[in-house]
Amino acid sequence: MHNAKCTCWNCPAIDLAGKVDFRACGQSTKQFVKAADDTEETRIMGECKRRPELGLFDPMDMTFAECTEYAPGPYGYMLRDMRVMILGIDGYLGWTLALWLGSLGCKVSGVDNYNRREWVKERGAQTIVPISRMNERLRAAREVLGLNIDFRQIDIYSERDRFKEFVDEVKPESIVHYAECPSAPFSMIDVEHAIKVQENNVLGTLATLFTMRDVVPETSMVKLGTMGEYGTPLTGRPIFEGLFPADAVLQWEGREWSLGGEIVPRDPASFYHVSKVQDTFNCYEACKYWWLRSYDVMQGVIFGVDTDQVSADPRLRTRLDIDEWFGTVINRFVAQAVAGIPLTLYGMGRQIRGFIALRDAMECMTRLICSPPEPGQYAVVNQVSGIYSTRELAYIVAKTGREHFGLDVQIQRVENPRVEADEHPFEAIYERLPKEFGFAPQVALEDEVRKMFELFLTDEVRARIEERRQVIMPKTWWSGVKREVERLELLDLQGEIEEDERMFKINR
Ligand SMILES: NC(=O)c1ccc[n+]([C@@H]2O[C@H](COP(=O)([O-])OP(=O)(O)OC[C@H]3O[C@@H](n4cnc5c(N)ncnc54)[C@H](O)[C@@H]3O)[C@@H](O)[C@H]2O)c1
Repeated sequence: MHNAKCTCWNCPAIDLAGKVDFRACGQSTKQFVKAADDTEETRIMGECKRRPELGLFDPMDMTFAECTEYAPGPYGYMLRDMRVMILGIDGYLGWTLALWLGSLGCKVSGVDNYNRREWVKERGAQTIVPISRMNERLRAAREVLGLNIDFRQIDIYSERDRFKEFVDEVKPESIVHYAECPSAPFSMIDVEHAIKVQENNVLGTLATLFTMRDVVPETSMVKLGTMGEYGTPLTGRPIFEGLFPADAVLQWEGREWSLGGEIVPRDPASFYHVSKVQDTFNCYEACKYWWLRSYDVMQGVIFGVDTDQVSADPRLRTRLDIDEWFGTVINRFVAQAVAGIPLTLYGMGRQIRGFIALRDAMECMTRLICSPPEPGQYAVVNQVSGIYSTRELAYIVAKTGREHFGLDVQIQRVENPRVEADEHPFEAIYERLPKEFGFAPQVALEDEVRKMFELFLTDEVRARIEERRQVIMPKTWWSGVKREVERLELLDLQGEIEEDERMFKINR
């Protein structure tokens, strides 16, 4: 099992003592000296919050596999009844993860301020998969899955004191931070929206970091970044996982320096993405100053609607948006296919991005929660399970719609309202999750697309798509212009598929 050899040094239940004044937050600076026959070296000791009877011990001495507080599970050794707090628990990913972790035996708590519901309403849009109010969700989780989720309506930024009290009450052993505005176009509407997104995201993360420093410094944070932080380097340079690998070298004017361990360049593509880059630096610094531990998850674009838990009952469904601001590309393509709108490729439609299915993303998150970083460690993973061009995705959706559901799906090229390269190289590295955390993707894109069609073609969802048809075509331009994009070309599906397959093979 991937984390069998992790030790109490990684465990959030450890209370470190000893020469740890580097945290600069009032920790003990008492010195512990090794045994007489050993060198006179001071050392860090620990006490277990779950097993106080162990007294003071060397945190490196016990592994997860040896500790009775850990049990083996499908995604690694996991703390029994692990307390996980989800920030943004009412969202697309937050609600899905709450049910997923609860079903694995975690004690799940969470906060949300319903920002997402408000923002979608403000745009005149709606989740096309109907979702219940939180009270109803919590009741259904109890009735259907036997889960008791401890929820509070709190804004993590503007209600910092209440947030801190709740964290102090629960003492989570892992904090998953999803509580941000996830939309690039929303941040590009106007100055008010740009400010709203950056304020909410950047200051919410800062508030979380300070809360963790003061209340739960041993807890690990799994923080959501995005692959969009990196942009698409036009040189074709590989997109490493957050930090340069040890053997990366900078050469200049005949001289050479190691880049190993330095944060890789970021090239965000909207004011939303800029907020994520600022988060990256805030998390990095907090780990350095206070020895917090954090996984910064550079997540690919999520698609899909299915996990065992959200599909178990209509009241447990997670949201799914398809409007121009909050819909992600695959989800939008399937909705366009159902609505009879030709799938919209922006510009050349050869943008390449990393993607991951909802279910696979849940598995990755669980594996990270199970294996916290070491104190002070800021670690990054690129959470992606496949790389696709938007054309390729459109073809897959169109083909599925035509062959399995008898829909006449068309594809169109439209003006690109964004400022981005339509055609570019893309070599993303995403090796850590498979190699170090044992993740292997379970969901085939075509299968999930089929499931989405099945759900979207039900009378209720189809009617909801139809009701909000007017919010599907993009009208938000990065330039500030507000008008619907115009069609450039309707594609000849068959010819284009063949051409694109050839191009894709060459790219790989
Ligand atoms: N969905 C994707 O494809 C995707 C891809 C890459 C990264 N991400 C990141 O993953 C995270 C979750 O994404 P999602 O799609 O579930 O978004 P979401 O909007 O559905 O979920 C975020 C939740 O956080 C809540 N929230 C926002 N600000 C808050 C605050 N200040 N206090 C309390 N609650 C607050 C919202 O109400 C919402 O319920 C985001 O950080 C997003 O940037 C998402």
